[in-house]
Amino acid sequence: MCGIVGCILNNKKAAPVLLGCVKRLEYRGYDSVGIATPTHKIQIKKDQGKIVDVDKNLKLADLPGTMGIAHVRWATHGLPTKENAHPHTDCENKIAVVHNGIIENYKTLKEQLEDEGHVFKSETDTEVIPHLIEKYMDAGEDLENATRHALTDLKGSYAIAVMSKNEPDKIIGARKESPLIVGKNENEYFVASDVPAILEYTNKIIYLNDYEMAILGENGVLIKDIDGNLIEREIEVIEWTPDMAEKGGYDHFMIKEIHEQPEAVKNTLLEASEIKKVVQKLPGFSRICFVACGTSYHASLTGKYLFESRLGIPTDVVLASEFGYSSRTLNEETLVILITQSGETADTLKALRIANKKAKTLAIVNVLGSTATRESDYVIYTRAGPEIGVAATKTYVSQLTCIYLLLIYLSGRHELLDILQKIPDHMVSALEKENKIRDIAKKYKNTPDFFFIGRGFSYPTAMEGALKLKEITYIHGEGYPAGELKHGPLALLDEGVPVVAVAPPGKSHDKTFGNVEEVKARGAQVIALGSRSDEILKSEAHEMIEFEDEIDEMFSPIPYIIPLQLLAYHISVEKGIDPDKPKNLAKCVTVE
Ligand code: M6R
Repeated sequence: MCGIVGCILNNKKAAPVLLGCVKRLEYRGYDSVGIATPTHKIQIKKDQGKIVDVDKNLKLADLPGTMGIAHVRWATHGLPTKENAHPHTDCENKIAVVHNGIIENYKTLKEQLEDEGHVFKSETDTEVIPHLIEKYMDAGEDLENATRHALTDLKGSYAIAVMSKNEPDKIIGARKESPLIVGKNENEYFVASDVPAILEYTNKIIYLNDYEMAILGENGVLIKDIDGNLIEREIEVIEWTPDMAEKGGYDHFMIKEIHEQPEAVKNTLLEASEIKKVVQKLPGFSRICFVACGTSYHASLTGKYLFESRLGIPTDVVLASEFGYSSRTLNEETLVILITQSGETADTLKALRIANKKAKTLAIVNVLGSTATRESDYVIYTRAGPEIGVAATKTYVSQLTCIYLLLIYLSGRHELLDILQKIPDHMVSALEKENKIRDIAKKYKNTPDFFFIGRGFSYPTAMEGALKLKEITYIHGEGYPAGELKHGPLALLDEGVPVVAVAPPGKSHDKTFGNVEEVKARGAQVIALGSRSDEILKSEAHEMIEFEDEIDEMFSPIPYIIPLQLLAYHISVEKGIDPDKPKNLAKCVTVE
């Protein structure tokens, strides 16, 4: 899980541009960074550490030349060290490669290459690539053909950018199961892991498919398949502005993205007619199976409650990493709905490929042109815009909005649209509670454990609140169906443990209230989320976050998640953690 970028510029130094691009890719990996530019020789500056620190020491932008490649790393093979940082080179330092993905057969290839006399400098899987290219160039092939030849030796996943001092006007990009896009301006060419990385320089994008190569150089951009055949590919103009990919005045991407949520939901609502068209095209089905990971799984869980209670369609929710163990029950009567912000999550893509063999698949995706969008039978875009913070926030509420829209068009209950249109206003009101939530965060920042409870529609909200807390504050948070507490977890409740109770008005309210009393009797500190007029809840809770009375439990998952995101964010900041880059996590998980 890494970020790669490459560029060929017109009379302009490449290194400062590459540095800007990798800064925008830092959410894909942040344990090492490196840049290479070719002049009379390949010059590389790289090291382990955050970009800002490595740049301070090495002055990355000082590298000469008008083209180059760059990388941010999130280690999978080999510790985060200078030697393992990309770019990697061949024996003679004439070829440099940056790579995202995993080369599964690298050990065998490395042994073979070492037997042939190649000397390796790192522990990475990536390093076999420049050595393979070297081998084929030494045998007389040019950079393009040697790269193509090397790719046929690889098993696993890759997005790569390659350059050589022997052909110092060319960058080769290629992909298989890891994202890679090409950007184009007049006489300036880019390859990158994603669009925000290069948006400052161009919004004209070509999406590469698996087993395709991009040859950037004197002939402009050529897209070819792995056999060398030219491919015609349309250039897409991306409407995201560079500002949308920047922090926009906030301290962190996460808080910016939390505040963008009402807008994100409005943008998703603009997709209503597209979603309607997708629904009209869907084949008949008698069963739904949601598949997703993490936050997208919690959106799916809400989908289950919605579709079963309001559509009467049996609906399963399966974690993508578990899907391969339970897919036997799929058939042509099943609609498999995959939810994935990135469209590149390895577990979800694997599940998608299994599902495609047995059922119709519909992907709900944020990243345009991502693998999931290209491999599913039907696609719905969340249109939340780029999400940089590792913790998913605005994409979650956009995913939920897509699910409501799906429900509306599948059920024909168009009157629900009016309620949905009002949700962004309720979200704005929820965001106005930020000061109060900051105070709560200060009070509980040192607590070792948190519980989040809810029933029905509020159970996924509780789960998502707990996930947000865990990933960015490193506090242990349990999300539980409120009724399940008494079957075990109640034993963990000690005096003073905060319990966040999600208790909107509706069918589940009274029972959840009973659980609030249950935990309070055991000394818990109750932080309740409920309706403004819910006096009885207010009287029991130590802290109460109030919402408009008209938000009932069916539509509560969108506005009610906001205080929980804010709580996690402010505890993270209070603890001095960078919420955008929690330890051990990355935005896009491209390994199983
Ligand atoms: O891109 P995806 O939606 O497929 O990602 C799934 C999870 O990896 C993701 O939601 C993860 O749990 C987030 N860090 C949660 O904030």
